[in-house]
Amino acid sequence: MSVLVTGGAGYIGSHVVRLLQQRGTGVVVVDDLSNGRPERVGDAPVVQLDLATDAAVPTLTAAIAEHGVEAVIHFAARKQVGQSVAEPARYWSQNVGGTANLLLAMEAGKVDKLVFSSSAATYGAPTTPLVREDGPAEPINPYGQTKLVGEWMTRAAGRAWGLRAANLRYFNVAGAGWDDLGDTAVMNLIPIVFSALDAQQAPAVFGDDYPTPDGSCVRDYVHVLDLAQAHLAALDHLATDDRPHDTFNVGSGTGASVLEVLAEVRAVTGVDVEPVVHARRAGDPPQLVADVERITTTLGWRATKDLHDIVTSAWSAWRR
Ligand code: WQD
Repeated sequence: MSVLVTGGAGYIGSHVVRLLQQRGTGVVVVDDLSNGRPERVGDAPVVQLDLATDAAVPTLTAAIAEHGVEAVIHFAARKQVGQSVAEPARYWSQNVGGTANLLLAMEAGKVDKLVFSSSAATYGAPTTPLVREDGPAEPINPYGQTKLVGEWMTRAAGRAWGLRAANLRYFNVAGAGWDDLGDTAVMNLIPIVFSALDAQQAPAVFGDDYPTPDGSCVRDYVHVLDLAQAHLAALDHLATDDRPHDTFNVGSGTGASVLEVLAEVRAVTGVDVEPVVHARRAGDPPQLVADVERITTTLGWRATKDLHDIVTSAWSAWRR
């Protein structure tokens, strides 16, 4: 069997590609290479393609036939919340349009298994300490909206032609499974802090007056290698017929505040720079932490790595 991985040359996708290769599964990568790098995927064939273009359906259908594809893992998407607010149509076009094209090609090619990269951004600003998949999903930005619509699309395809999908709602993904697969984009807290340290600047804390134990925002940080393992668990699960659920939180189940992350960064790097408190960042929920009961019970997956492992591996990859 071979697995088609869209966005497979990206940060998270390349971790999944490597795990699939290690267990001997054939992989074909589809990536527009806007952020992805082909050297991350070893000897896997790479089809350079923007999923939102007219060429996508025929190109994907041909790749499915040529490589004997039996399942798809769909990472390829735009993922910057702020950019999605500024350029909403681009997000709808890329994320929703790209997923629609992929589903058309899968239906044509009779590929009925899909693992879809969804997001904790589908929850919006929850009011409960832990979020559950059966709780309200009220995204507060176009990025989160496109991910929620993606989940609806996979469900509708299930009803219409029998697609079997697992929608994985990622929490705050960080760390590196291998030094050559680190997150090279400086878009999230940990890489932003590393970048500040390199520039000998003080890391910024966006708000210390939230209703949380230390006043800074609390998030659920999950190691990218644990997250990648969740994709393999989901893929295996799609092969069985007894799936009670199609949507799963992928988090550690524990929260860490921005100040706690910065303390861990100080401990790991030995660089002792006092953070500077800034105003709150627009749209940040005070706390977003996964309830992981469903994925633990249904897929038998749980996070094995903690914040120390995340920061240590991220720093090692960053220095490389
Ligand atoms: C984390 C915390 C910031 C930078 C986003 C998406 C989410 C998911 C993960 C994919 C927040 C604070 C940040 C800084 C800071 N992605 N911060 N100083 O916003 O929790 O989640 O990425 O699906 O959907 O929304 O991640 O890394 O930007 O921020 O204090 O210099 O760190 O305010 O509380 P976020 P983040």
